[in-house]
Amino acid sequence: MSAELANGLTQISYLLAAGLFIFSLRWLNRPQTARRGVLAGVVGMVAAVVGTLLHPEIASYLWIVVALAIGTAFGIPLSRVALTAVPQRTALSHAFGGLAAGLVGIAKYTLWVQDDSLTTFRISVIVIEVLLGFITFTGSLMAAGKLQEVIPTRPITYRGQNWVNLSLLGIAIAASVGLIYDPSLWPLFGLVVGLSLLFGVLLILPIGGADMPTVISILNSYAGLAAVAMGFVLDNMLLVTAGALDGASGFILSVIMCRAMNRSFTNVLFGAFGTVAAGGGPGGEEKVVKSATAQDVADLLENASRVVVVPGYGMAVAQAQHRVREVYDQLVKRGVDVKFAIHPVAGRMPGHMNVLLAEADIPYESLVEMDEINRDLPQTDVVLVVGANDVVNPAARHDASSPIYGMPIIDADKARVCVAIKRSMSAGFAGIDNELYSADNTLMLFGDAKAMIGEISKALAGGGGLGH
Ligand code: TAP
Repeated sequence: MSAELANGLTQISYLLAAGLFIFSLRWLNRPQTARRGVLAGVVGMVAAVVGTLLHPEIASYLWIVVALAIGTAFGIPLSRVALTAVPQRTALSHAFGGLAAGLVGIAKYTLWVQDDSLTTFRISVIVIEVLLGFITFTGSLMAAGKLQEVIPTRPITYRGQNWVNLSLLGIAIAASVGLIYDPSLWPLFGLVVGLSLLFGVLLILPIGGADMPTVISILNSYAGLAAVAMGFVLDNMLLVTAGALDGASGFILSVIMCRAMNRSFTNVLFGAFGTVAAGGGPGGEEKVVKSATAQDVADLLENASRVVVVPGYGMAVAQAQHRVREVYDQLVKRGVDVKFAIHPVAGRMPGHMNVLLAEADIPYESLVEMDEINRDLPQTDVVLVVGANDVVNPAARHDASSPIYGMPIIDADKARVCVAIKRSMSAGFAGIDNELYSADNTLMLFGDAKAMIGEISKALAGGGGLGH
């Protein structure tokens, strides 16, 4: 193939890939089109890789094949992790992306410093690439480690921590400016690399494990920006486009997550929020709660006209979604109107509940966003809370001293009857009591969500109740 033809094919495949990436993000916005979005992203990435492999400047394919083999060996097991481990898996992917950007930066610096071709523009983008790439690398490894609990999940804080971090960042920036002034000062380059690696670790130390999903999303945007810089270093416009999309979407997602938790960026990054999450359980005065059996709940459900299910993190832990689907089918067959209330930060990652419910083939039309379902809840007969806690905690509406005050919630307490399934009175992510459980119209069904929903399903199948 002539170099001109190969170059033309590369450019066409890049154009195709860029278009597909944009459509992919668009389609990922809605559950109905999300599968198409994933497919578009995969096809776009294949087009980008094939287009790159056709590049006429490739001198030898040997190292590329070796790298592909290593990537595949890591990638296949990574793709098979449980859904609850997806946040840490995503963090590992970002770590590899950041490492790749950083290594490309080192390679290009070494090459260009030798043949004296480091222009101000080149050294500037290399410095940005290396800074963001290596911060993303170690930061994401730390985030993955905290989520997997291989390193302590609690925030590790000490006096003057923010000042130490800011000073290190300041030194790294000063070294970067020195390098831009004189690119041949390679010890400064080494200092920038070392400080970026260290800064990634120190940045994550004070953040609790529970805040890691938001942090991962922020690191995602750093990885995207590192890819933009890498695109300029390699003169590859597809990398610039894809990196910008990645950077922007990661940033937007972090903002959405922070808003849904009523937290600010600085509170997530410097607030050490996870400290309170460990304890839980009722403190102080005794609360009276009414508990029910699965048969009681089955009777309530089949005598209802309108039921709303509120899934939360506990449904993910218990992997109860398929049993929930069985109960959904049984109730719909009896003419009950069943809807699912989706809170934007229920679970531990964006779209967590949507993915689980889609896995159980629950029709998308039955999933209703928080604002919309809240309008219907006062006319709802039974709300079934399956392993959700913070996202239905009324304290968020009225208790100004609560850490979740101001966070938008699903108003489960406003339904005629609320049934909450969980194993104990333990707290959720925010580590606080939930007055919903002791409300007059709430019944607790204590036990593992999968087992309890299974028992409700059995009771419904046995036809214990009166029906419509
Ligand atoms: P949580 O408030 O975390 O509560 C989950 C509840 O599930 C726990 O109280 C637990 O009680 C119960 N549970 C655990 N395992 C269970 C099992 N096997 N069977 C039955 N119940 C089980 O969950 P949520 O309401 O979904 O709220 C999510 C929280 O995570 C919010 O505070 C949110 O801000 C935070 N967060 C979310 C995200 C994203 S993007 N989704 C990111 C970061 C933080 P028991 O131990 O008594 O069973």
